[in-house]
Amino acid sequence: MYTPQAGIFALGTSSHAYLEFDILDAKKSKEFAFTISAIREPRTTTGGVNFVIGFRPELWRDIVPDDAPPGVEGFNKEIQGTEGFVMPGTQHDALVWLSGSAYDVIFDMARSVIHDLAGQALLREETSSWSYRHDRDLTGFIDGSENPTLLDAPIAALLPEGVPGAAGSVLLLQKWKHKTAEWEALPIEQQERVMGRTKLDSIELENKPSDSHVARTDQDEFGNIFRRNMPYGSVDDHGTMFVGFSADQKRLSRMLDSMAGRITGTRDALTRFTQPLTGSYYFVPSVESLRRLR
Ligand code: HEM
Repeated sequence: MYTPQAGIFALGTSSHAYLEFDILDAKKSKEFAFTISAIREPRTTTGGVNFVIGFRPELWRDIVPDDAPPGVEGFNKEIQGTEGFVMPGTQHDALVWLSGSAYDVIFDMARSVIHDLAGQALLREETSSWSYRHDRDLTGFIDGSENPTLLDAPIAALLPEGVPGAAGSVLLLQKWKHKTAEWEALPIEQQERVMGRTKLDSIELENKPSDSHVARTDQDEFGNIFRRNMPYGSVDDHGTMFVGFSADQKRLSRMLDSMAGRITGTRDALTRFTQPLTGSYYFVPSVESLRRLR
């Protein structure tokens, strides 16, 4: 039996950092994989840090061909939606996602990760996240209501036993910058129609509009995913770090197509109030697969 990386399911952490790297010398990708797989969390019993390590899917396939899910691809080209809306692809080679209870440990550990990888890879994108009013996105809405429970999340997120890449997961990481002034100019009832849920207590609207966010990403249609989204940014410049895990990349890519209006021609109303700045897919291998690299 294979074991998933524990950080995927480690809920309840309020400080996060996402570090995206590019390898300096493509010929040395195996050495890089060795170094990144040797990253260690602090072994104290309190104040710990969770790591989740992911690889550009094509890179993982190069390094460990017999343990890579077939057909999984990086975010290699932008998604062109209706009315000129674009989701950019900003794929990098590897991701280290750190999460913990306080930012000081995240800060120290993130610095040590960057230090350990120096000479082999360049840090190309860094984002810090923090939780806002327990479980709310910076739009003010509760984020994650329709997430599977921790009993069901492994089924949604992990490749099943017996296939290449078992207990691994496909991760979509996408940073969305909110158009806060436009969003806050909407009356609450209109914000609720954009989301398809009530703002205070996240009750699904009975007659939710077809362009509402939850209609465009309906898991009954696309399949279940497991989301670990977090708010990111400064007071003046902020948004959502979308962090979505799936056993099947198509669920995620079809949701993006649907939000962009490429499936029915109806674009997700939420995309009028927030804009993706980045987009990458990573394969997050099982613990055993990472250990093999060492
Ligand atoms: C700025 C970006 C985003 C924000 C602020 C956001 C926020 C939300 C909120 C508030 C909900 C309703 C409560 C819930 O069930 O969690 C929701 C639902 C959902 N979102 Fe997003 N989301 C964003 C982007 C995305 C993206 C990029 C995807 C997929 C690739 C996605 C997939 C989903 C799914 C699957 C649901 C549940 C739908 C269902 O009811 O089955 N979201 N989101």
